[in-house]
Amino acid sequence: MTSAVTARPTAGIAPDRFRQAFRRHPAGVVVITADVGGGPVGFTATSLTSLSLTPPLVSFGIATTSSSWPHVQRAATAVVNFLADDQESVARTFATSGIDRFAAPTDWARLPDGEPVLRGSAGWLRVGIEQLVPAGDHRLVIARVEEAHVEAGRGPLLFHDGTYHSL
Ligand SMILES: Cc1cc2nc3c(=O)[nH]c(=O)nc-3n(C[C@H](O)[C@H](O)[C@H](O)COP(=O)(O)O)c2cc1C
Repeated sequence: MTSAVTARPTAGIAPDRFRQAFRRHPAGVVVITADVGGGPVGFTATSLTSLSLTPPLVSFGIATTSSSWPHVQRAATAVVNFLADDQESVARTFATSGIDRFAAPTDWARLPDGEPVLRGSAGWLRVGIEQLVPAGDHRLVIARVEEAHVEAGRGPLLFHDGTYHSL
């Protein structure tokens, strides 16, 4: 069968075209944190998606080149920290390579089971990691939400067209 919309077997669009398309797509900003025993790790992400209600699942993408990947790959649990609109500096810190992202002024604590959690966020989810799905140069992490904390009165941090925004 032929169709004008039939996908052709190509390598897809170029990375610049891909980035250009997603610059127009606003997204909430989170920091994913975990600790598998080697100290806390975390990275800024906009790929968080609410995936399933029953069971409660989320997904996010992580680059296999990321310094956090070897840790997330071995983690049983992680924390999704929803950044608040006054946490742009936190978003920048957790997207900066080669620094200690948990050093002051980063304000963080540990949950009872040891997961690192950022203070001052709009809320957080403690998740149990269930699947790591190969997806190009990333892995799609599928995780079950075990616990949710919402901080009333804090607006979200958004990323759009290469800059941070509040609502
Ligand atoms: C707004 C924004 C969103 C990002 N989203 C993701 C994401 O969803 N997944 C990911 O692996 N990296 C994402 N990154 C990149 C990471 O935050 C981080 O910079 C990258 O993992 C490099 O860290 P490394 O030097 O520790 O390897 C994002 C960065 C920014 C600024």
